[in-house]
Amino acid sequence: MCGIVGYVGRPGAPGAAAEGGPAVVLEGLRRLEYRGYDSAGIAVVTGDGVAVRKRAGKLANLVELLDADPLPDTGTAIGHTRWATHGGPTDANAHPHVDAAGRVAVIHNGIVENFAALRAELTEAGVEFTSETDTEVVAHLLGAQYRLTPDLTEAMRAVCARLEGAFTLLAVHADAPGTIVGARRNSPLVVGLGEGANYLGSDVAAFIAHTREALELGQDQVVTITPDEVRVVGFDGTPAQGRRFHVDWDASAAEKGGFPSFMAKEIHDQPQAIADTLLGRTDAAGRLQLDEMKITEAELRSIDKIVVIACGTAAYAGQVAKYAIEHWCRIPVEVELAHEFRYRDPVVSERTLVVAISQSGETMDTIMAVRHAREQGAKVLAICNTNGSTIPRESDAALYTHAGPEIAVASTKAFLAQITACYLLGLYLAQLRGNKFADEVAEVLAQLHEVPGQVRQVLDGLEQVREIARSMADTRSVLFLGRHVGYPVAMEGALKLKELAYIHAEGFAAGELKHGPIALVEPGQPVFVVVPSPRGRDSLHAKVVSNIQEVRARGARTLVIAEQGDTDVEPYADVVIRVPRTSTLLSPLLAVVPLQVFACELATAKGLDVDQPRNLAKSVTVE
Ligand code: F6R
Repeated sequence: MCGIVGYVGRPGAPGAAAEGGPAVVLEGLRRLEYRGYDSAGIAVVTGDGVAVRKRAGKLANLVELLDADPLPDTGTAIGHTRWATHGGPTDANAHPHVDAAGRVAVIHNGIVENFAALRAELTEAGVEFTSETDTEVVAHLLGAQYRLTPDLTEAMRAVCARLEGAFTLLAVHADAPGTIVGARRNSPLVVGLGEGANYLGSDVAAFIAHTREALELGQDQVVTITPDEVRVVGFDGTPAQGRRFHVDWDASAAEKGGFPSFMAKEIHDQPQAIADTLLGRTDAAGRLQLDEMKITEAELRSIDKIVVIACGTAAYAGQVAKYAIEHWCRIPVEVELAHEFRYRDPVVSERTLVVAISQSGETMDTIMAVRHAREQGAKVLAICNTNGSTIPRESDAALYTHAGPEIAVASTKAFLAQITACYLLGLYLAQLRGNKFADEVAEVLAQLHEVPGQVRQVLDGLEQVREIARSMADTRSVLFLGRHVGYPVAMEGALKLKELAYIHAEGFAAGELKHGPIALVEPGQPVFVVVPSPRGRDSLHAKVVSNIQEVRARGARTLVIAEQGDTDVEPYADVVIRVPRTSTLLSPLLAVVPLQVFACELATAKGLDVDQPRNLAKSVTVE
């Protein structure tokens, strides 16, 4: 949820940034602001203590403060951009937090679950708190521990032993200039490796402008960085090694590239995201292969059920997967919200394949569900966009989506890449289990390879959708209908509109309409309808055309997404939005694009920030 950056550099070293610590950290925070944006702050180690600047509101407020009251240009700095959990978004609750002596500064992502007990204990001992956060407890504990064991790594280990919950912590101490100590439990932290400079970040975007070499940390580890050294130990003191990796995208991928927003750019990145996700998936014999498959072919042949676990948009990708995988592989597929799966008593066994879909790989609800599934003996395959993140690391196999960094809080290109990866998985299983002949798999793959070009066509023809969106800035409610794979598309269209434009929106299975939701339809009510191909199963298309008539008869304004050449919808549609022809199962990759553009344009017309919608954070690292 929160974004964390740390930098230590030896001035003049080849890999050190020319700017001082505060500027490097501020730049990192700009790239991480999507993770949380209700307050921000930076701390540096000075000759005689730690200096902190922090401000409620977006990063721009902190920049204003730093302009008025700059921090000393030291080579050791930590910074934080917050998504509030304990305590509202105020200056006092913003991170970093310092101990009473002002010697230690701490930033934190996550929740210290036993903070109330620790706070009571510290209050009893005479500590006065200046904020309502759980983080301040850690600052006081660390300050006190350091007085007993004047070694920041050891002090951090001792404090972590007292904390319950999920956390990433970074700390600096006035007595240890040139050193930052980090710790992680169930919350992300990666190390950026430079020459004469090292970095810490919630994700690689924090330091991508300076280095593409990174180190992934394991669970329950403490890392100590200086300009020339990175040391990792477990919470129990055992020396550990991180896994080194190279980041395969650069700083320009995390820029807007001439678009007015990251959201607009990411919508336009979609053809590339699909193409890159499809890249290099076949071996010399044309057989599909996946990335990190530690599940044997025999195990995959023996699975009798698939359960997809995910949240939000990723769960809608899972719903599309259900239609495709059941159809191609004849394996039952359940799709469940990760937080619901975790806290009931799901029936899974060694013969269940659990597929965890997550853009960030750090969604706590999904992490907990992955762990639960593995404890029950299931094999877990992660579909993930973030190399080195927790979900693929804790899974038995990983299939990476290559969508590149997704900065806008609302997911777009990661969604299309997730659906693409799900198709690959379905085809892989069909090939392996003999449900499909090689030429049948090749035919679907060939169709999939055409999709990037088709998405480009959709994007090139959306002026009509933009105009409609701009004319609907005052709309209070929009409904979305779909059947079969069009149903998750309808729900995703509604979610995008809620998130970006703060408009009440609902996605329904079109067949469900007459069982209740049709009561919502009154004259003028806008209703988007996602229509399946008329070339697919005839009854499906005809049923949706009937649904359009039903809402139109009650006065709805119908906005219909239909395949090119589908004339059946024309008599009942107020507006027809055309998408190219593809098979029904692949059609979500095209049909959802106008809905993303509609939500983005309407929110923009309302003057809203489409990249950072209110109350949301990119990566939900608390349960
Ligand atoms: C919606 C959106 C969220 C995420 C969900 C899961 O636009 O972005 O619903 O899809 O929070 O996040 P990941 O995929 O990172 O696990």
